[in-house]
Amino acid sequence: MAKTKTIFYCQNCGTQSATWIGKCRNCGEWNTYVEEVVQSSTSGKKQTSLHQSQAVRIQEIDSSQNIQRINAGIEEVNRVLGGGIVPGSIILLGGEPGIGKSTLLLQLALSQPSAVTVLYVSGEESELQLKMRADRIKQKSNNCFIVNETNTQTIFQHIDAINPHIIIIDSIQTLQTNTIESSAGSISQIRETTSELQRFAKTTSTPVFLIGHITKDGTLAGPKVLEHIVDVVLQFEGDRNYGYRIVRAIKNRFGSVAELGIFEMQQSGLREVSNPSEILISQHADDVNGIAIATTIEGLRPFLIETQALVSPAVYGNPQRSSTGFDLRRLGMLLAVLEKKCGLKLNAKDVFLNITGGIHIDDPAADLAIIASVMSSLFDVSIDSNTCFAGEIGLSGEIRPVSRIEQRINEAKKLGFKRIFISSYNPKDLNITGIEIIRISKIEKLLTGLFQG
Ligand code: TYD
Ligand code: MG
Repeated sequence: MAKTKTIFYCQNCGTQSATWIGKCRNCGEWNTYVEEVVQSSTSGKKQTSLHQSQAVRIQEIDSSQNIQRINAGIEEVNRVLGGGIVPGSIILLGGEPGIGKSTLLLQLALSQPSAVTVLYVSGEESELQLKMRADRIKQKSNNCFIVNETNTQTIFQHIDAINPHIIIIDSIQTLQTNTIESSAGSISQIRETTSELQRFAKTTSTPVFLIGHITKDGTLAGPKVLEHIVDVVLQFEGDRNYGYRIVRAIKNRFGSVAELGIFEMQQSGLREVSNPSEILISQHADDVNGIAIATTIEGLRPFLIETQALVSPAVYGNPQRSSTGFDLRRLGMLLAVLEKKCGLKLNAKDVFLNITGGIHIDDPAADLAIIASVMSSLFDVSIDSNTCFAGEIGLSGEIRPVSRIEQRINEAKKLGFKRIFISSYNPKDLNITGIEIIRISKIEKLLTGLFQG
């Protein structure tokens, strides 16, 4: 009989330990070690591989017939996956509870043509609940099977019976395999069930989507272990109070991780947003202070987004800085540069910054717009609504050039902007007409160019 063996696993990072320890040596978290039962390898005998593998020269591998990607049925999903679903790939979709993971994948299942059979395995919701959601989405596919099951051996029986072309597992944390005794959601269960699915996916060339939960600090639960096994890791982000959702690829063995898909959550499911700029710029009167438009690039797509700042006297002499959708430390740096280079007295002011749409931007090209919106609020002078900005701010107050400036300017032009402020270090020979390009080298110049010019 196989001896029962237990190992302690950190539930945060997956590190193993033979004994219980209070603080994880790897991730530093406290109280995360849980004892899990693992079966000792059957009486220590080495397992031999069932099929014979063979080493071949890389030149001899025939790559003439390209892998036929499967159309996901949702353009934005195709885009993040790098042009469709690769057969046999394991795709992990992570995100906070309630963000719309189940909705997105059910929508994907229902938008398949009738020749494509999809099996949606849910360990979280009953068939009836899924049917109610499908009714809301209002998409119809006559070949989408739903099963409420958590045991992988039973799931494989269903797979044998239905022979699906795409499998969706909602969620990996609910699955359980008979070969391991620990409870569902534990590190060893997650690793084992994912490996079983991966073996199945690779041998049958069936793509498998896994939904993964996210821990309180925003990383995928059952974490690095999972990320190593799967081929693609997608992250579903967005502020639950806003309608916009972004799907970002964090790892993609078959495509770029620069791409992202944008959706809007509506009453009838997720709507694809193919032109994000139009919705991220709110319609407002011309004389509103504290608003500036940034020209950013997320993935390969440029889009314009509104930045809003409010600068007001600090009440208790303890100035607050608050930021939604932008790194707070970077905001602190920008304010320090403004203070030092332009002599603005921001140390006695509260500064609140908001990026519209609940979207988080990392693109440094937004710096210039953020500074402009702070100045606009501080001086109570509005910025002309036909003006936008693209530039990074350096520590000495210089405006640094940003990548793909032509693409940004063209997007601004397409949306009807008349003026764009960019760095004077950008190439001079930009062949773009129909929009005034204002080149500035230092932030002092922005102050005069915008408000005293
Ligand atoms: P869900 O897919 O259940 O999230 P997850 O699987 O990531 O936990 O989505 C839940 C939210 O989406 C829920 O709060 C309601 C909202 N929603 C809509 O607004 N419209 C819809 O058509 C659907 C299906 C959900
Ligand atoms: Mg769900």
